[in-house]
Amino acid sequence: MKVGIEAISIYSPRYYLDLKSLAAVRGIDAEKYYKGLGQERMAVVPPDEDIVTMAANAVESALEGIDFRSVDTLMLATESGIDQSKAAAIYVHRLVGLPSTCKAYELKQACCAGTAGVLAALALVQQHPQKKVVVVASDIARYGLGTPGEPTTGAGAVALVISADPKLVELSPDVGAYTADVMDFWRPNYMDEALVDGKYSIRVYLKALAESWNAYVKETGLDFTDHYRFCYHLPFTRMAEKGHLHLAKYSAPEGMGREALLEQIYSAQRYNRLTGNLYAGSVYVALTSLLESQEKLENKRVGLFSYGSGCMGIFYGGVVQPGYKKHLKEEKHRQMLGNRTEMPYGDYEVMYKNSLPKDGSEYMNNHYHVGNYRLAGVKDHKRIYEAVEREEQAPRSAPAVNSRSAPSKRSVSYP
Ligand code: COA
Repeated sequence: MKVGIEAISIYSPRYYLDLKSLAAVRGIDAEKYYKGLGQERMAVVPPDEDIVTMAANAVESALEGIDFRSVDTLMLATESGIDQSKAAAIYVHRLVGLPSTCKAYELKQACCAGTAGVLAALALVQQHPQKKVVVVASDIARYGLGTPGEPTTGAGAVALVISADPKLVELSPDVGAYTADVMDFWRPNYMDEALVDGKYSIRVYLKALAESWNAYVKETGLDFTDHYRFCYHLPFTRMAEKGHLHLAKYSAPEGMGREALLEQIYSAQRYNRLTGNLYAGSVYVALTSLLESQEKLENKRVGLFSYGSGCMGIFYGGVVQPGYKKHLKEEKHRQMLGNRTEMPYGDYEVMYKNSLPKDGSEYMNNHYHVGNYRLAGVKDHKRIYEAVEREEQAPRSAPAVNSRSAPSKRSVSYP
């Protein structure tokens, strides 16, 4: 029985900072960001969006046309958790209206948790082919202002519906994994920004890639030439180039030149260049970008590498299904990424510095331009989420952060 991806949808906030603006303020040649890191824009999250609202938008879109009664489980992968106990998946479950028989929980292993969820989902669907599982990865990649990591900031969510007889990609449950206890990137509970040893994290990524690949080859008997295209975890898109050339050094056939190798990763980088890092979802944004490109991928095998600092690497893959094109949400994604509002550097810094109160005091957000859901505020230590009326969509420009406004009429109250 085939199992794999039935639907995939991404969501990215409606504001972005062009890295040329960041480069100008930091006194750095913009080519370092555009070419050296391979990033052009970074998504900027307004105060009334968080991992829950972003995930809800992605899940709602991925589930379009699918009977909610068939959804057995919703897994939310994140390293930007909003609560130590309650799973962010529960809020998403309610916002999109999943049935109470559907389980909902949260997963964590840095940027690898999305793939951990997909592997668990494949096993579940193998056992119960009539059921579907939604895996959503939602994150806000946040580094300190002025740090080397800052240009690799980003945000968004990507949701995958895993089912039997998949319409997009049949995934193989045979994977190669590598786990080691290293400190290349982490975020203690008392910090809002990640701590990262950037250059070390690149070396560990490459080691995890090589080790996962070796385990994958041993497990599957497949080799480099069995794969037409490769999607990598993309903290910044040039990481794919570093990873792929590293892998090719000892596994690609002799005579395969640099251009041919770069061709294998090119189409998977387009979207990530515009969103920035999505942490747990980044490899699936890369896959979406590849599937929604001009490439003809039917019956072609795609290799997928997920890397989560700390660290765990997973290499696996899948075969793109005949007729996949008509099941993509290409136009929606193109419009979403194309119609965002550019933010001047000053507004980005204001938004960056804005944070929810840490002392439990009441807080109501202003209305920014958001998707179908927003974080209205916090009251009695509880986050208040609401669906956005389409006719009430907020203006596209960004009002001042931290000013108070009345809660919307459609705030969802708890039973
Ligand atoms: N034009 C074109 N390229 C330029 C340039 C210019 N004017 N100036 C520099 N570059 C190139 C550098 O040569 C380098 O390329 P290389 O990797 O091929 O050597 C690249 O831009 C990055 O420059 P570098 O000086 O190495 O960057 P940095 O010290 O500012 O840090 C990271 C880069 C990735 C380490 C940093 O952004 C970071 O810590 N990111 C977060 C962690 C992360 O993403 N880790 C990845 C694994 S999960």
